[in-house]
Amino acid sequence: MKSIQDIELKGKRVLIRCALNVPLDEKGNIADDFRLKESLATLTYAAEQGAKCVLLGHLGRPDPLFEFGNHPAVPPLWSLRKVAEHLSVLLGRKILFFEQPIGREVRDQISLLKEGEIAMLENMRFYKGEEANDENFAKELANLGDIYVNDAFDVNHRAHASVSGVVKFVPVAVAGIQLKKEVDALNRILENPKRKMVVIVGGSKIETKAGFLGAVCKLADTVLMGNLVSKEVEEKPFLVPAEYRDRLVAAIDGYPGESQSFDIGPRTRELFKSHIQGARTIFWSGPLGKVEEEAYRQGSLEIANAIGESGAFSVAGGGDLAGFLERAGLKNKFSHISIGGSALLAYIAGEKLPGIEALGN
Ligand code: 3PG
Repeated sequence: MKSIQDIELKGKRVLIRCALNVPLDEKGNIADDFRLKESLATLTYAAEQGAKCVLLGHLGRPDPLFEFGNHPAVPPLWSLRKVAEHLSVLLGRKILFFEQPIGREVRDQISLLKEGEIAMLENMRFYKGEEANDENFAKELANLGDIYVNDAFDVNHRAHASVSGVVKFVPVAVAGIQLKKEVDALNRILENPKRKMVVIVGGSKIETKAGFLGAVCKLADTVLMGNLVSKEVEEKPFLVPAEYRDRLVAAIDGYPGESQSFDIGPRTRELFKSHIQGARTIFWSGPLGKVEEEAYRQGSLEIANAIGESGAFSVAGGGDLAGFLERAGLKNKFSHISIGGSALLAYIAGEKLPGIEALGN
């Protein structure tokens, strides 16, 4: 996979599709900036190489009735302005924010950028053409840059204009540092992983994990399941092909009690740790408890520490797990932490992601 580090950037207008879709709290403030931190490597590199950087991204799922340009003001909750401000602080560089809809004015502003300067455009999902992957919109985006860089693994499962559509119309399209790192780490899990391989499946959105669960059972030697996943599989055994069911290890107790399993209980923690100890490859998706509440973090903390001690090649991500591990200071216990949610599950399940496919090899 060709990356931003393989091409000449100096003086070029470089469109960088970033992972700007961060969780917001009830007041609309950024609740977790893990994805933004992970974008710093590419942005610093591009700026230092003298690129004129134009950042593209989305935030949330804005009301589809809103159409950019036809309303007096954008919905502030979904505006990327606050993300630009926060990212600028993390990066230690100014980020200009172009709030006008894409068109002549924005093209002119981009043409005035100096080498090393960075600008961000408004939420791509304020344009109907983004999610519809409209060709004309993709061409309009392509006209804004000389080079396109995909650094947003989280959204690569979406065939959207700024993710895959634009690639057809730009002279050069490459992966960013973060995207390349993701794909390299995940391919290590998928292609000939060192055995024994253990997969841990937690989280609460079980219905979105059905395909994923079947796929990881084929891949792994052992699949450890959190309480909610264990319950679901008990009720719907057909989620896992019969020949792989003996690889499943269900949670055996919950905390604080059997009927209130907001975390894995002490016996499950020990059981899971005994499997983790002998592993050479570990993939962990989704927290094992309601980690947003302090009382239910212990199970996930103990499992994270056990993974760190195992010395296995380890990747974690999905749902709130990445942010949780970062905030708990446990990021360095893992070989890689993914910024992906659904994109991560899809990739591990063997699906082709439109964004990555568009880039080719
Ligand atoms: C994510 O957070 O999973 C990605 O940014 C994609 O967002 P979406 O599910 O709204 O398409």
